[in-house]
Amino acid sequence: MKIKKTYAFAFITSVLFTLLTVGGFSFLLYFKYTIVIDLEVTLYSTVIVFFMFFIVLQKRVEQFIYKRVLKIYEEVSLLDINNLSRTNVTPDIESLSKEMQKFAEDKQLEIESLNERETYRREFLGNISHELKTPLFTVQGYILTLIEGAAEDKDIRDRYLERANIGVERLTSIVKDLDMISKLETNDLNLNIQPFNCLEMIQNIFDLFDMKIKKKNMTLRFDKLYEFPIFVMGDAAKIKQVLINLIVNSIKYGKIGGIIMVSIGSTRGNKIAIKVKDNGEGIKKENIGRIFERFYRVDKSRSRDQGGSGLGLSIVKHIIEAHKQTITLESEYGKGSEFTFTLKRA
Ligand SMILES: Nc1ncnc2c1ncn2[C@@H]1O[C@H](COP(=O)(O)OP(=O)(O)OP(=O)(O)O)[C@@H](O)[C@H]1O
Ligand SMILES: [Mg+2]
Repeated sequence: MKIKKTYAFAFITSVLFTLLTVGGFSFLLYFKYTIVIDLEVTLYSTVIVFFMFFIVLQKRVEQFIYKRVLKIYEEVSLLDINNLSRTNVTPDIESLSKEMQKFAEDKQLEIESLNERETYRREFLGNISHELKTPLFTVQGYILTLIEGAAEDKDIRDRYLERANIGVERLTSIVKDLDMISKLETNDLNLNIQPFNCLEMIQNIFDLFDMKIKKKNMTLRFDKLYEFPIFVMGDAAKIKQVLINLIVNSIKYGKIGGIIMVSIGSTRGNKIAIKVKDNGEGIKKENIGRIFERFYRVDKSRSRDQGGSGLGLSIVKHIIEAHKQTITLESEYGKGSEFTFTLKRA
């Protein structure tokens, strides 16, 4: 058993004091009065003196330490002071120093994460204002020109109003995306999970993008003929958003005359895996890890021509994760990309 440090301290100090006291006393008696105390008396007095010293010292040391420990605890307010009963103070010196170390480490971690968040926040604000500025200035530009007289010409007026409207639509879509992200991040998004036929949903989306596809001379289709409906569990509106974001990306970053293929299969865990595959520009390895971050775009200038803000995939990921499912990306630069996400089978 390990003897408590304070007991050892009190013990050694008491021994030293006892020896000095008894020795000194005997010495004094012998030289001054030539009295020799017999052995028995010396022994008893030694023991008594020792215990007196020991008890007093031990109590005093405990008190001394207790006061200081308490003060330290109070200052760092580590624990509830009431938790600190007097009995466990002395051996606690060691655990206190351990606790202090842990406390310091925790604080360090906290500071680091706060710094990180601060940088993130700053970047986020910068990104948002940047994203909003571009369409806002466009709209402002057209309106100012109209005010300055361009409104007189009916043709120009209509054209400028039309362009201003496009800018406003862009602003609205960014704000909607941001709103969606903030809801997703605060888990404020009440998912309405129900079974639905994903085959039908995808077919509807195909129809939705018919024009866009034709414009780029592309093909958007299933990989094969699916004869029977496939029912999955999920929030239909949100999953539709996921599919739209993925397909719009494939159209945006696909090549003229390219093919976009959607396939539905099952995974080993008996889930449904939906795959959106294109043979477009693909994504470099170094960007794959960051593609789902909000505002992240591979080629900022090019994406800007395409009117993207880099929120699409981060929304996709949030929605899939809110469903407790996963999304993966496989891509070879120059050859195409393949996004696969899972859903629970209904
Ligand atoms: N199918 C794809 N092929 C190649 N690159 C892609 C593909 N999908 C996404 N990317 C890259 O990932 C980036 C992020 O995509 P994301 O959908 O998040 O943003 P975005 O399309 O630029 O803007 P938006 O918010 O309008 O969707 C894109 O800018 C693009 O560089
Ligand atoms: Mg996108």
